[in-house]
This record gives sequence, structure tokens and C-alpha cells, in this order.
Amino acid sequence: MKPGVWKKRFKKGLHPAALDFTASLPEDEILVPYDIVGSIAHTRMLTKQRIISKHDGRVLEAGLKNLFKKHKEKKLKLLPEFEDVHINIETQLERLIGRPARKLHTARSRNDQIALDLRLYARDKVLQTIESLIKLEQAIIKNCIKNFNHIMPGYTHLQPAQPILWPYYLLSYFYKFQRDIQTLFELIKKINISPLGSGACCGSTLPIKPEYTAELLKFEKTFENGIDAITDRDYLISTVIHLTTIMLHQASLAEDLIIYSTQEFGLIEFSDTIATGSSIMPQKKNLDSAELLRAKAGTAIGNLVMVLTILKGLPSSYNRDLQETKQRLIDQFNLCLECLSISSLLIQSVNPTPGDWADKPDIICATDLVEYLVKKGTPFRDAYEKIGICIRDCEGNIKRFIKLVEAHLQIDRATCKKLLKPRNSVRAKKGFLSTNPGMTRKALKTAEKLNRKNQKTLSRFQKRYSLTDLIK
Ligand code: ARG
Repeated sequence: MKPGVWKKRFKKGLHPAALDFTASLPEDEILVPYDIVGSIAHTRMLTKQRIISKHDGRVLEAGLKNLFKKHKEKKLKLLPEFEDVHINIETQLERLIGRPARKLHTARSRNDQIALDLRLYARDKVLQTIESLIKLEQAIIKNCIKNFNHIMPGYTHLQPAQPILWPYYLLSYFYKFQRDIQTLFELIKKINISPLGSGACCGSTLPIKPEYTAELLKFEKTFENGIDAITDRDYLISTVIHLTTIMLHQASLAEDLIIYSTQEFGLIEFSDTIATGSSIMPQKKNLDSAELLRAKAGTAIGNLVMVLTILKGLPSSYNRDLQETKQRLIDQFNLCLECLSISSLLIQSVNPTPGDWADKPDIICATDLVEYLVKKGTPFRDAYEKIGICIRDCEGNIKRFIKLVEAHLQIDRATCKKLLKPRNSVRAKKGFLSTNPGMTRKALKTAEKLNRKNQKTLSRFQKRYSLTDLIK
């Protein structure tokens, strides 16, 4: 088979099995628009530098725009015999506009081209991921507002620790996802460096102007060294790592939701639209979506390990191994985006189980009694020990506990009961960061503000990097 652009260089064509093995076609489908946009910027640079004529430049650009449109209409088919997206676009362009297409690859190599395409793709997908995170944040905020006054046990070591407000619990995830958003905005800086101009590895003898292509594609700068430019996948590692972190956050949330919704915990309830039944046990209501979220974090870690393993110890400059990291990046974005929309759905579908737990004395407020004694002048460690002894001797019975406290610690029954009510405990909390309702309301207001700011920053970025605007 001799379809490649180097068909005249070789006497024999590539064995079909080798072509199949080296091709990167299915995943390259995703890169089509980025490849075309990069080629348009390259064409404009070649024209500006008078490396090609104005006429050829115009014909090339019109042809490329035509292909862009065809792709949007799903009418552009990549052919396996042309190995990858780059050769496909070039060949299809030649079929469309004839000889000027043979000038497109002037002063360019597939090495700087794939490096560019992947950066444009990553920039776009990072913004899409931020958009999904913003939606998830909004779902959290809505749920916090709806169930603001609900009180639940807060856990450490998965053992009841101290009572907290339900929105306080949910906001702990809001702020994780907020950190993820900030990290992704910062990541764009790392992605936003143009590798174009490196050619195969060290530039061209033609009078190209890489700064101009970088400017056209809204990159912040170009690389300083061609070998580094075509090799660097640091941003790819960072992207896969950050997406893994987002997956870990979602997996923890999923794990909480699974546990809290069990009959044993009974803290939350899900709407039927997100639950699954059993094929044999009619009483079951399972949370399979959350279980899969938990599992898919494992897949994300797998992708990260694959990327690191492929890159480990590669010789410098372009090696075909790099191609294998591409699918991992694409997978990681798809995985994360799919999971984010399921996480939003879970948050929209969950409500805390109503009940009067927060208004009855509970041992979960033992620390409040300790702090009461501290306020009365008892050193903390003494107070802790005194309450500890009552806990030891009450055998888990709250009534006996109150009696022991009254008998040994001079706290009257009414005060003791009052202090032991979860609702009072939450109200009595002091200070920024605490679950005190006033503080939680403030944290919720801050969350709303941050979310609005995210939206503004995102739409600024989306406008700046819109692919169709880049080639206007
Ligand atoms: N399909 C290749 C990739 O994904 C493009 C670059 C090929 N370069 C080369 N010198 N063979 O990495």
C-alpha cells in the first residue's frame, strides 16, 4: 500500500498491518477542528512572510474553512490509509483545491503540528471542564439553600464526631471543586505556549515568524527551543493529574452518598430518577451511578500511570511513543466530563432525611459539655477526663449519662440536656470556619460570589479562545 505523502520516497508501500498499528485515526477525529485552525494560522503566517503568494494563501484558507464547515456538518471522513489527522486534512485539501494544497506543509512538520493541535484541544477541553464544575457548584449551592437548617452528624474516622449543618457538609465539597476550577484556570498558562516554528525539531531555513502564528492562535508566547517544543508533554501530565484530582473529589463525594443513604445510616434520600433496583430483591434501591463514579476514579488513576509510564525515559525530541499519550488525555477529559454531569445529577437528586434527631439530647455533643466546664474554669484536660468517665460508665445510655453528669459534675439536668441537643451545639459554635449557622451562611454567600466570578472569568476565556473566532 503506498498512499502516504512519502509514497515516492519508498519503493514498496507500508504493510497494511503496520499501517493499522501506527495509525492514530479514531482518536484523531477529535483533533480535526484544531488541526484546521492551526493550519489556517500557519497559512496566514506563510502569506504574511511572503513564503507563499497572496493568491495561494487565499485559496488555502478558503479550502481549509470549507473543510472546517464540512467537519461541523459531519461530512468530513478521515480515511485510514492516510494514517493521521494531519495527512488526512492535507490530502483532502488537495482533492478540494488542487496544487496550492501542496504548499501547506511548508516550514512545518507533523511534530510541531501535533504538539500544537493537542494544546489547542486541551485549552478547549479545560474550559469545558470548568463549565461542568461551575454547574456542579451551582447544584451544591441550590441544595444548601433548600436544606439550610438541616442538622446531621459530622464524622471523623466514619464515627459520629460532632453535629454539623447539612450545608456545612456540602460546602466542604464546593470548596474542593472551587480549588479545582482555580487550578484549571492556572493550567491554561502552561498550555498556552506555541510550539509552531520548531518544524521537525530545530526550525526552518525559510523566513517564518513563529511569534505571529502564536499571536493569531492567542498563545501567550512561543517556546524558546524547538526540541523542547515538540517533546514537552508536561502540560499533558499536569492536565491528567488535575483531572485525576477532580475524579478523586467526586469519588469521595460518591462514597459519602453511598454510605449515608444506606438503611444503617439513613441520613439522606435519593429521588427514584437516580436509583436502580435489583433484578431479584424488590426491596432494593441502589445508587449504582455513585458506585461507578467511585470506580471511574480508578480508571483516571490508570490513565495517569499510563501517561507517566509512556513518557518515562524517552529520548529527547519527537518519538512515536508520544502518540500513545494522546488517547489517554482524550479519555481523561471524556471520563471527567461524563462524571461531572452525573455528580451534578446526584446532588440535584439528594435530600437529607427529615427527623427530630437534632432536637433530642445525644452523646455526639459530649465535647460541648467539656467546653462548658472549660468556660466555668476547669482546665480542658480535666474536663475531658471527667466527661470521659461518665461516658465510660453510662454504657451508651444517654439518660444514665445525664444522671452521671448531674451527680458528679454539678451541671444540672436541664443545662445538660440543653447542651446535648445537636441543634444547640451547632448554634453555639463560634468563629469563622465553624458550622455556626451565621458562619455557614457567610460561607454560602462567599460560595455564590465565587461561582458568579467563575462564570465571568469563564465567559471571558471562552470568547478569547473560541475556535470560530480565531479563524474569522
Ligand atoms: N500521529 C502522530 C502523533 O499523534 C503525529 C506526529 C507524527 N510524526 C512523525 N514524525 N511520525 O503523534
